[in-house]
Amino acid sequence: MHTFQPYPIDLLEMNPFTKFRKEWALVTAGSKAKCNTMTISWGGVGVLWNKNVVYVFVRDSRYTKEFMDQGDFFSLSFFEEKYRPALNYCGANSGRGEDKFEEAGITPAFRHSIPYVDEANLVMLCRKMAAVPITEDTFNDKAITKDFYKDGDLHTMYVGEIIEAMAR
Ligand SMILES: Cc1cc2nc3c(=O)[nH]c(=O)nc-3n(C[C@H](O)[C@H](O)[C@H](O)COP(=O)(O)O)c2cc1C
Repeated sequence: MHTFQPYPIDLLEMNPFTKFRKEWALVTAGSKAKCNTMTISWGGVGVLWNKNVVYVFVRDSRYTKEFMDQGDFFSLSFFEEKYRPALNYCGANSGRGEDKFEEAGITPAFRHSIPYVDEANLVMLCRKMAAVPITEDTFNDKAITKDFYKDGDLHTMYVGEIIEAMAR
């Protein structure tokens, strides 16, 4: 079990474009009894409703979505490059039929009962503020449907208040 230090959000220096698009993250939700994690590369951080927030996009088909919908909290975990195989695994396999943490060689850990990944080097613990279904009627750019939703597997945008960031 790794020891994390609190990371004051005002001191956080990161490029959100490379952080999400290139480095990727694991979004983890659920409880000590059962949780799941999946790789994401779409999302961001910012300010909304006077809170420091993250926003992530989870398709209907993801097992992780069930945990995002059931619970009030989730986390984002970011990693050193050496964990790329684990991120690849969690982005290509569903936790529906297996213990994905074990198969990927990573360890679920909990703070305030919120699941995150122990091997991460930066973790954001989040309180779910809103779950916003992304619907096709909101697209001004009609190419979005063609390029990303031909199979009807739509995203829900989850906005989470960052209640604690921690790093090691
Ligand atoms: C690099 C990468 C980025 C991904 N980004 C997202 C994303 O932002 N949203 C999403 O719904 N799925 C994304 N996925 C796909 C899910 O991680 C993948 O379908 C996963 O197996 C779902 O697992 P689950 O069914 O256990 O939740 C991404 C996959 C990879 C490899």
